[in-house]
Amino acid sequence: MSAEWNELQTQLPVWLEASRQRAASGKVAAYIPELANAPADALGMTICDGHQQALTAGDCGLQFTLQSISKVFTLLLALMDQGEEGVFAKVGMEPTGDNFNSMLKLELVDPGIPFNPLINAGAIAVSSLIHGATPAEKINRIAAFFQELAGDAALKINEAVYLSETKTAHRNRSLAYFLKANGVLEDVDVEEVLEVYFKHCSIEVNCMHLARMALVLAFDGADPVSGRQLVPRRYVQIAKTFMITCGMYNESGAFAIRAGLPAKSGVSGGILALVPGKYGIGVIGPALNSKGNSTAGVHLLETVSNAFDWSLF
Ligand code: DON
Repeated sequence: MSAEWNELQTQLPVWLEASRQRAASGKVAAYIPELANAPADALGMTICDGHQQALTAGDCGLQFTLQSISKVFTLLLALMDQGEEGVFAKVGMEPTGDNFNSMLKLELVDPGIPFNPLINAGAIAVSSLIHGATPAEKINRIAAFFQELAGDAALKINEAVYLSETKTAHRNRSLAYFLKANGVLEDVDVEEVLEVYFKHCSIEVNCMHLARMALVLAFDGADPVSGRQLVPRRYVQIAKTFMITCGMYNESGAFAIRAGLPAKSGVSGGILALVPGKYGIGVIGPALNSKGNSTAGVHLLETVSNAFDWSLF
């Protein structure tokens, strides 16, 4: 075992309890009513390395839905289905500086394609690019891909969260119809695209699943356990770049300066992060800051990254 791993083992629970205090300044997301039931002061982290070792601290037993973290992986699947040209005809490569559910920029650019695949508008466009004749076929392919990456064939949709979101998603619905009008959603039924999008956001995981999924990205698309290349390296490179520039929404710049790691957050309070060539990291902390990122989770990731000088920069 490396000295770093040993120190992580002793320090992680200490750092975690210090970061947990930050949860008090955040709020659990309530715009999807079912998410409001999550425990506000929970905080957990799992770190996996390439030698089948895992470290856990805090509330790692908590189950939560992927929400926006799923967007990284639907992007990878869309790239595998359509290639770079197919995907980037429908979605851009630039950060917005706006909230994740904003529609502001869709009217300001020509063509009116979403700025990037990690904002809601971009992820809805990406959902329409996944191969499959029906929404069920698409979501089955997405679930199978996520299961393979997470190393758990039992991953499934949390139906209560899915129903809660689909009933209340007036803003996402309007974004999607706007995309249809702009010609971004071609030859597809808007409601069917939304079904796929809400369902992949509602896939339920724990910190270990996030850490395993992140580990594949940390090893350039290869599963370090089996040695199998699950995703082409080039597509992982694209995904990691988006995670740095847009993964923490309009807090991505600050997070890149403070932690310097590719990461992706979700409104359930999950964060997936990675240290290239070394670790996959899963975090849950349901209380969010004003940008929609886990307030205690961000603090803990920054603490650990600084302690070991993990920043890419
Ligand atoms: O579309 C939504 O609003 C949610 N299903 C996902 C948003 C999300 O996780 C944004 N994250 N910070």
